[in-house]
Formats: sequence, C-alpha cells, structure tokens
Amino acid sequence: MASKLAPWALRSGGRALRHGMRQQRRGFQVSAVARNESGFLNVHRDTSDNNLSIPFKFNTQNENLIKEVLSRYPSQYKKAAVMPLLDLGQRQHGFTSISVMNEVARILEMPPMRVYEVATFYTMYNRNPVGRYHVQCCTTTPCQLNGSDGIMTAIKEHLNIEDGETTPDNMFTLLEVECLGACVNAPMVQINDDYYEDLTPEKTKQLLIALKEAAEKTGAGGHAPGLAGEAGKEEVSGKSTGKQPNVMKLGGEGYTAQGVSIPAPGPLSSRISCENSKGQTSLIGDPPGPEEWMRQDGAL
Ligand code: FES
Repeated sequence: MASKLAPWALRSGGRALRHGMRQQRRGFQVSAVARNESGFLNVHRDTSDNNLSIPFKFNTQNENLIKEVLSRYPSQYKKAAVMPLLDLGQRQHGFTSISVMNEVARILEMPPMRVYEVATFYTMYNRNPVGRYHVQCCTTTPCQLNGSDGIMTAIKEHLNIEDGETTPDNMFTLLEVECLGACVNAPMVQINDDYYEDLTPEKTKQLLIALKEAAEKTGAGGHAPGLAGEAGKEEVSGKSTGKQPNVMKLGGEGYTAQGVSIPAPGPLSSRISCENSKGQTSLIGDPPGPEEWMRQDGAL
C-alpha cells in the first residue's frame, strides 16, 4: 500500500513546492475615471470659483419659494425636494457649486453625499460655471439625420470653441447632448431654458449673433445669471432667471431688446408647432360621428 501511495505523495509534494516558490501576484483594478455622459468629471475638484470657502445662501425670493416647495411634502420626507432646491440654487448662483449642494443638504437635513449623488447623476445640474447662454446641441439620431453635424460645426466655427468649452467673454458655452425630446422638429438646440428648432446652420448663426447683441446692449454681460454683475443680480430677483435680460416678448413672434430682434423659441421655420410641414396628409375627412361607428340598439 505504502509503495502505491509513494508516487502520488511525491507528485503532490512537488506541485505544492513549485506553487509556493512561484511569486504570488494579485492584480488590482483601477476603475475608469467617472465621467458623466457629457464627459465631465463626476468628482469635485477645488477651483478658484468652486470651493468650500465660497459661501452660498439663498436670496429672500428663493427662500420663499423653498418654503412653498417644502410645504408640498410631509416634513419627514422633505429630502424629496432636493431636485427643485438644487435647481433654484443653480439659477441663483449660475451653476451647482459645492457650496450650493452643501446648503441644500443643510436645509433638507440630508447627508451632503446624498445631494452630491443627485447632482452628479442629472446632467442638467451644471457643476462648473457656464456662459451667459448655455447652448446644448442635440446630436442623437433624428437630429443627426436632419443635419445636427452641420449645426454643431456652425456653432463651433462661429464661436470659435469646441464642445464643452466657453467663449473667452463667458457669453456662450457649447455642449453636445443626447435627445432633448423635440425630435420631430430636428435639428434643434436648447439655449438656457428655451428650445430652438428646425434649425439650419445659417439660422443658428443668426440666433447666436442676436443673443449676443441683446445681452451686450442690455448690459447683462457674458455670465450665467448668478455670476453676472449688477444686471445679473437684478435678474436673479426677477421671476425667470433663465431668460434673456430685460427683453420683451412680442406676441409669439420674437423678442426685441434695445432694438435687437431675437427669434421666439420654437421652430425657426414656417411651422407653428410640430405639425407636418407638408400639411395634413391623414385624417383629412370629416370625423365620423358616434352614430356611424357605434352599434345601434338591437343590432348584432
Ligand atoms: S434626437 Fe434631437 S431632440 Fe430627439
């Protein structure tokens, strides 16, 4: 029996010895740097305009709005208001800075990390300063098939910036984005809160020229509302901080600001909304009345 076991013991012993002598290496993984779909880092890095030493407090108007928002939730669930509060903070400050996030966490009595998680998940929260006009150009399939590449090129060439960059005068920030839900009016861009649709490269350029001229003539300067000078502060206390400053809307036809005409948001074509540009091609007869398609009493 012992003679039968000896070769097996020798083989096993040799294997164990070789294994023990081999250098033990353990691979470790380095996860990819976390970036959101717009390509921005999902981590905070202190910069001169985004660090903990820059205080942030909501202004009186926003404090009143916060009270109104919080009144819609049971007090034990007030953290449900994190998104509207972050939005108010962004509109007041110009972007969702670390101080804005911390102030929201303080008001809602949430761990700051929970607020950071929300702000880094949704790309609508700008975690870095953006220009006075935040131009988001959709390049998803329907827009791409209708010429969004040409729109992107026109914006880049006109502003002399690349995707994700801001013009040196802080007037425009360009961002390529995914579908904004206005595919039927493709190609389109979102500028601050407004959609401009049915674009051509030439119309896009004219729009950018008009917006810049309007901002310069009204003295709002090239900053997002919260970062602007006196004009920007005034605007923050107004109702809609995302709109063009001191600009009047003219009966749905466009805006004028100090003599500068700006097209109204929506389709920049002859369309009013998202109707077929070739006119109505279906359902063109009179709609049948109920008596024509409902079963008569007693009929089988
Ligand atoms: S694909 Fe551009 S808005 Fe939907």
